[in-house]
Amino acid sequence: MTGAPLADPSADLPEGFLAAVDACLGPRGWSTDAGRIAELCVERWGTARGRSGLLLRPGSVAEVAAVLRLCHDAGVAVVPQGGNTGLVGAGVPDASGRLAILSLARLDRIRAVDPLNDTITVEAGCVLARVQDAAAAVDRLFPLALGAQGTCQIGGNIASNAGGLNVLRYGMARALVLGLEVVLADGRLWDGLRSLRKDNTGYDLKQLFIGAEGTLGVITAAVLRLFPRPREVQTAWLAVPSPQAAVELLAHCRGQLGETISSFELMAGGLVELVLAYLPGARAPLARPAAWQVLIEVGWSLEEGLAARLEAVLAAAMEQGLISDGTLAASEQQRQALWTLRESPTDAMAHAGAVLRHDVAVPISEVPALIAEGETVFQTLLPGVRILPFGHVGDGNLHYNLLQPPDWSAEAFLARKAEVQARVFDLVLAHGGSISAEHGIGRLKRDELARRRPAVDLELMRALKTVLDPRGILNPGAVL
Ligand code: FAD
Ligand code: LAC
Ligand code: ZN
Repeated sequence: MTGAPLADPSADLPEGFLAAVDACLGPRGWSTDAGRIAELCVERWGTARGRSGLLLRPGSVAEVAAVLRLCHDAGVAVVPQGGNTGLVGAGVPDASGRLAILSLARLDRIRAVDPLNDTITVEAGCVLARVQDAAAAVDRLFPLALGAQGTCQIGGNIASNAGGLNVLRYGMARALVLGLEVVLADGRLWDGLRSLRKDNTGYDLKQLFIGAEGTLGVITAAVLRLFPRPREVQTAWLAVPSPQAAVELLAHCRGQLGETISSFELMAGGLVELVLAYLPGARAPLARPAAWQVLIEVGWSLEEGLAARLEAVLAAAMEQGLISDGTLAASEQQRQALWTLRESPTDAMAHAGAVLRHDVAVPISEVPALIAEGETVFQTLLPGVRILPFGHVGDGNLHYNLLQPPDWSAEAFLARKAEVQARVFDLVLAHGGSISAEHGIGRLKRDELARRRPAVDLELMRALKTVLDPRGILNPGAVL
């Protein structure tokens, strides 16, 4: 996808459409400003890039409904957009220039917090960090956490069923949603804004919109689950001899520390070195470089006692040869420094050269074989390539990233993209895995989805799309 915003945005729109939009949203609610729109057409790291001539910014649920009705009647397609931190080309328009961007940013009210029901009701445009803060203000935890949390919006998180750093304990976005409010393609409001943990009254319709990447409806609000806030949190950074040792360490820790484990993240040692070189003032967490490194975080609602337990469990793991070195964060500042190392690999790699990125999942027990076989396949295919996997290994989810060989040009490396992606996906599927663990399908993996999901799956998905969006105005070209 390449290109710039259309020079004359109204050229492709039905006559009178912009006047109707203005009557419905007012002057603050839409824009054809090319500079402003251009920013919203490019994803972070520039992987997906499109163009558009029209930005819609409704300021209320009624305005979302009214403007979608207009779009539906006029056959104008939209791409819903939250914080534009998605990574699969789902939240930016395609290159045709015919999709309007429908931003949810102005729907940013926290409607209600109910500590007795452990729920919070928020509008789609609330930035994730604000939802976390609002939960903390009533001494609760909203556990969805990811590197983009200062920018991404809860509507985008739900529409992409985001995973992130605490899935091991709390599940993906889907597990955190109790109710949804959605504007359908034709402007009707579907009110599923319930706050119930038990509700077996027919089909659970909200599930359709979670992870649908804006193709089945526009989420305007959600009721989210809250949890007890952990009072003691302990974070360790460990050197492990191999990916096999990492998954055995996870099993060992699960056995001893159970549900207190919220994060178990793996990083290739070479990636830690890249991050240390990239981040100004960053300090190496370990005395010596190590080929594989793990961040583990545990937490519970008691005031103290977890540090000693974690240390004992890690000491036993060291005796078994599962860990060769390690450090425990001694303060919140040190904990944050460890998390900064974990959250910086994608930026550090982008700084170091051209990268081919994949977000895959396999059963946790298959992670070591995937890494070992990938090493053989890709060192043969791309001699000198730097294979730097990292990610949520506690969920079997690896960000399987390949950095260009130092003596190759970026263009020559990126020219191999399709071939490399196909080989990664073949390998992942051979291990019973998924070609998209948490980032979704969007436009970048759409053709692979069509190739790799069974025909019946695709028929059912297309049937749902036809029912919910008969005129195909919701994010056409994404997912299907
Ligand atoms: P956008 O990018 O704006 O949109 C994403 C999708 O949702 C698009 O299909 C869009 O059309 C749709 N959409 C947005 N809002 C709505 C709405 N209100 N109604 C219907 N559809 C809507 N993802 C993970 O899962 N785990 C991670 O650990 C993780 N880490 C990340 C770290 C960084 C630094 C970055 C840049 C991204 C990361 N991501 C991660 C990607 C992740 O999917 C997004 O950060 C986030 O969930 C998307 O939210 P957003 O508001 O930016 O959505
Ligand atoms: C992460 C993003 C890329 O885990 O999903 O850092
Ligand atoms: Zn991730």
